[in-house]
Amino acid sequence: MEYDEPDLATERAHSARVYDYMLGGKDNYAADRAAAEAILRLWPAVRIAAVANRSFMHRAVRFVAEQGVTQFLDIGTGIPTEPNLHQVVQSVNPTCRVVYVDKDPLVLAHAAAFMRSDPRGRTAYVQADLREPAAILSSPDLRDVLDTDRPIGLSMIALLHFVTDDDEARAIIASLTGALAPGSFLVLTHGTDEFDRERMQALAEVFSGTGFDYRFRGLADLTAMVDGLDVVEPGIVPLHTWRPDGPRGEAAARALDRRDVAGYGVVARKS
Ligand SMILES: C[S@@+](CC[C@H](N)C(=O)[O-])C[C@H]1O[C@@H](n2cnc3c(N)ncnc32)[C@H](O)[C@@H]1O
Repeated sequence: MEYDEPDLATERAHSARVYDYMLGGKDNYAADRAAAEAILRLWPAVRIAAVANRSFMHRAVRFVAEQGVTQFLDIGTGIPTEPNLHQVVQSVNPTCRVVYVDKDPLVLAHAAAFMRSDPRGRTAYVQADLREPAAILSSPDLRDVLDTDRPIGLSMIALLHFVTDDDEARAIIASLTGALAPGSFLVLTHGTDEFDRERMQALAEVFSGTGFDYRFRGLADLTAMVDGLDVVEPGIVPLHTWRPDGPRGEAAARALDRRDVAGYGVVARKS
């Protein structure tokens, strides 16, 4: 696959690079680090939140693969961070096929890491905007790898808070899940201010100062987003408490404070 040289617009903070900095990565620029440090001053535990969010992704997509789903569509993938989604689901079933989607050119520049699929499975990377779900679904690269007549695990991890309009966010989910076969799953995490309103409101101001469009949402908003799907137990919960792995995972989840994690996680099935 060949791509044009990406325009990284390094003078502005980009969420993928700010998040990379939070996770301890090196794919970030001065504007990203300045934005991340402003966020860290208000929310010193944001790195804990980023790691907890990633760990939810691992547990949730592994759960979906264990339900027999072998195809995954991950939108808002971010800069590669091991293990990437295909590594998690291919550890359950090496034939899993995964399509990654992000709009950030820096993620595109790292797409090679997403291509290191188990030879028994397949992966692809599509540069596209979540706001154009029809274009994502009709992309030839996606069609080449995924069969939309069979169940797909659709993951949007730490993504939908960048779509600030509620109607638009719901319409995007409806159009993506509407195109999926019965037996498909939706896996979501979403930032919330419900566990610490004051701090998150101050943070929202920092976000708008750094040029991010960001909207925290609460339980009622997320319930509306997954309307029509069967929510898997334990429901829409602080993301670190969603099915922690074994006694060690449970102890780790207990040690975290939901005010630090500041995010909900949910897995829902299309029947
Ligand atoms: C906070 S990162 C999350 C990365 C990864 N999903 C995770 O949770 O580890 C958000 C990602 O969503 C991407 N993103 C934001 N808005 C998007 C849009 N409208 N379409 C596609 N990707 C988008 C950003 O480029 C970034 O890589």
